[in-house]
Amino acid sequence: MDTMETTKIVAGICGALLVFLGVKYFIAEPLYRSGEHGETQLAWSLELPEQAPAPAEEKAPVDFAALIAAADPAKGEAEFRKCATCHKTEAGANATGPTLHAVVGRPVGSVPGFNYSSAMAGHGGEWTPEALAQFLMNPKKYVPGTKMSFAGFKKPEEAAAMVAYLATLK
Ligand code: HEC
Repeated sequence: MDTMETTKIVAGICGALLVFLGVKYFIAEPLYRSGEHGETQLAWSLELPEQAPAPAEEKAPVDFAALIAAADPAKGEAEFRKCATCHKTEAGANATGPTLHAVVGRPVGSVPGFNYSSAMAGHGGEWTPEALAQFLMNPKKYVPGTKMSFAGFKKPEEAAAMVAYLATLK
């Protein structure tokens, strides 16, 4: 091995070391910062998506069964004026909307002689208490294309009280 070759090897090692130190001090270190309690964290860790707050629609679903069980039918009855412009509660009495007599447990869109929208007529299923509560929170979302123009209740408790009242219409 001649001197020239040795010099090259030494220079090569020094160069590699310099690059390594450069990466460590100028690139890697600034990416880390000391946490409040002394542990090292990634400087950008607070921006990682999984640490962002969950979007509103991912909130825990409302337990309507429990809300309806605890609801006061009298409160729903007091709110029924919001429905009474379009709905009657006597059997067979259709108005702008179909009668709400015995609506709990009734198949969706099934009152004879009422001219339902194709959305409601073709929806299927039955009006369980939970389905009614969800429908009344947002009719146009639950039955897209429904012709019932009621915006929906704001609070799940209000929808639950209405369902508790509707359940008394037998
Ligand atoms: C502006 C009139 C209007 C108001 C107000 C209204 N509804 Fe309706 N409702 C309708 C119409 C019209 C339909 C039929 C919808 C269709 O065929 O798409 C309907 C359908 C329904 C149905 C489905 C019935 C079935 O036979 O499948 C329920 C349940 C219902 N309404 C409950 C209510 C309740 C409870 C309220 C008050 C919170 C209310 N509605 C307010 C007009 C109204």
